[in-house]
Amino acid sequence: MTVTVPGSDVPRMLLVDPAVLRDPFTAYGAAREQHPVARLLAPGVRPMWALTRYQDSRAMLNSPQFQFTVDSLTIRPDMPDSGLAYLESMLIDGDVHRRLRRLVAPAFTPRHADRLREPMTAIVDTLLDELESRVAGGRVDMLEHFARPLPMDVLCGLMGIPDDDRPLWRSYGAAVSVGEGDRWSEVMPGVLDSTRRAIEGRRAEPGDDLISDLVRVQEADGDRLSDTEITGLIWLIMVAASTTADFLANAVLALLTHPAQLASLRSGATPMPRAVEELLRWCSLNVISIPRYASADVELLGVPIRAGDPVVSVLVAANRDPRVFADPDRLDFDRPPGTPGSLTFAHGPHICIGAALARVLVDVALTRLLGRFPDLALGVDQQELRRIKDPGTWRLESLPITLRRPESPLWILRNGLETQENQGGPSKG
Ligand code: HEM
Repeated sequence: MTVTVPGSDVPRMLLVDPAVLRDPFTAYGAAREQHPVARLLAPGVRPMWALTRYQDSRAMLNSPQFQFTVDSLTIRPDMPDSGLAYLESMLIDGDVHRRLRRLVAPAFTPRHADRLREPMTAIVDTLLDELESRVAGGRVDMLEHFARPLPMDVLCGLMGIPDDDRPLWRSYGAAVSVGEGDRWSEVMPGVLDSTRRAIEGRRAEPGDDLISDLVRVQEADGDRLSDTEITGLIWLIMVAASTTADFLANAVLALLTHPAQLASLRSGATPMPRAVEELLRWCSLNVISIPRYASADVELLGVPIRAGDPVVSVLVAANRDPRVFADPDRLDFDRPPGTPGSLTFAHGPHICIGAALARVLVDVALTRLLGRFPDLALGVDQQELRRIKDPGTWRLESLPITLRRPESPLWILRNGLETQENQGGPSKG
């Protein structure tokens, strides 16, 4: 799985090695314990330096020596060209990035996210009705019929996307989540059109939403914020938010395969926000960060890095660094107060702007899902579940679940008697 860079003890890993794709936690964990730096290779991609330990990752993600550049945007090879053009203004380090982030920050504070709890609950409950109506043969795919539409429905409300356009955004969110570049490209023009229409609509009739706020800033600010920038910003936020769907599926799977932790959550012994924090650490969605590029020659943890070399943090390895988290492979809702936060939302100038919103959204979704279905269980054997072959993210293809307990011996065998406490990585239990 790992070999060593000749002449050094830096491990070399193939990003698309089936063992790495199957269980990135174990593969990158082994590299982390061998050396703080790894060399990541993939066909057709420039070799990247990777930091696998928590403190080193935090320092790199926050260091001006490592910058987002145009090259950082190629991280998702399925990204349509029209999307790349928009990402440039928002993501590349510099004044534009700082200004746009400052403008949208008020809509994404923890306090604002908490104020959205009630409308989110209404959206979650409607989607749970839909989920129930989709059950076929006793099972339903919660990823397709609950988790994927959820962030888009919530974000459309927050942004001020007109109701008529929401199905379009849902299908876009699904295409992004599934990671099919062709489908992204097909839906992209409609989505950009919808954003432009929403901007015009809010200009004519402002409301209590993010697009109206941005239009107000634009009017107060002369020509500093262009319609193109607003469109790009809205689109980026929507794309980034759709990742919440995949994390939610990871979280539900983790709970359904950890009966003791699930029971502690159901009994109220573990408060939901604490569980969400540990789930974020344990089954984080992004395997590696977006690459940064060294702005000058530098020595990093004893390894010479050349100006322009790409450097990433392996977030899943940092989140399970035993130097920071005791018994790190264990899903443990009782970690002591003061345990550092995970790097699931990264760190530094590009730290996920939607982190507070994602936390509340996952909290509400899990609370309502578990509350409504006391017998919720996996609808297939865990070994049958498939992951999307994407070295950047840890995503399920689908997550079939059963909502109610059928009186069937097979169900009892699978979910009642056979479920074992999983102490290892997600692929181990
Ligand atoms: C559990 C769900 C989510 C996860 C795991 C996640 C993870 C991340 C990570 C790791 C980054 C930084 C990437 C890097 O620097 O290499 C990021 C950036 C970002 N996220 Fe999230 N995210 C989630 C939900 C959301 C939501 C709900 C929104 C919007 C409401 C959002 C909007 C963004 C934006 C706009 C950025 C770019 C920030 C910048 O470059 O300044 N994310 N996210």
